Amino acid sequence: MAVNPQQLSQWKEQGRKIVALTGWDYAIAQILDLAGVDIVLVGDSLAMVTLGYETTVPITLEEMLHHAKAVRRGVKKALVVVDLPFLSYQESPQQAIHSAGLMLKETGVQAVKLEGGYPEMAETVRRLVQVGIPVMGHVGLTPQSVHQLGYRQQGKTPAASERIVSEAIALEQAGAFAIVLEHIPSALAAQISQKLTIPTIGIGAGPDCDGQVLVTADVLGLSERQPPFAKSYVNLREIVTQAVQDFGSEVRGQRFPEEKI
Ligand code: KIV
Repeated sequence: MAVNPQQLSQWKEQGRKIVALTGWDYAIAQILDLAGVDIVLVGDSLAMVTLGYETTVPITLEEMLHHAKAVRRGVKKALVVVDLPFLSYQESPQQAIHSAGLMLKETGVQAVKLEGGYPEMAETVRRLVQVGIPVMGHVGLTPQSVHQLGYRQQGKTPAASERIVSEAIALEQAGAFAIVLEHIPSALAAQISQKLTIPTIGIGAGPDCDGQVLVTADVLGLSERQPPFAKSYVNLREIVTQAVQDFGSEVRGQRFPEEKI
């Protein structure tokens, strides 16, 4: 059975950790799904890891739609969530409904994620949920605000951590089905995870979140640079470079193809 947003809270209750990874095309999505990932997030980090932009700010709704369609075609079981890109939802709840609605209608994905909390974003989440669009929140380090926040850890002062707690509570009250907590102290993430009934999905937020997400390009060792909290389980840059060099030397040395067809 396919994973649905409601199931995630039951998993939290049961203490079953949620596994999420980002996807950007058909092949990667298929691999993640077959490997048993619960959530494939079409994160706007694909702006950097797939399209070569400096930040996530420039990526457009059209580009996200294009990648979301490819990912959706590759996934049979996991829940597919897509990031709404910068300036496709911040202007008004109406703009957010339009962008998120297009995402669901045109790509077949089940849910959207947007960055930021209380009070404006919580109101936007409430309106999206009212029209039947499942929403995942995202607080702490919100990369679409890189020009304000940089990529620094958030929530380090009592005031900043209180604000993040209020944002998370407001998003839950607005109807979000889960919240990404990015690059905040572990103790703060643990406190938020305890307070909420919806699951928290951590990235650089310590072990006490209800699930973990990483950027798949980092996990595979494909990224040019990666954040300090990421972990690579393989170095595909090296492996792919070697394979490409092997092909090149076999072609130049006339060892490939081996036989005439
Ligand atoms: O865009 C993304 O990949 C994300 C994750 C880092 C949570 O939002």
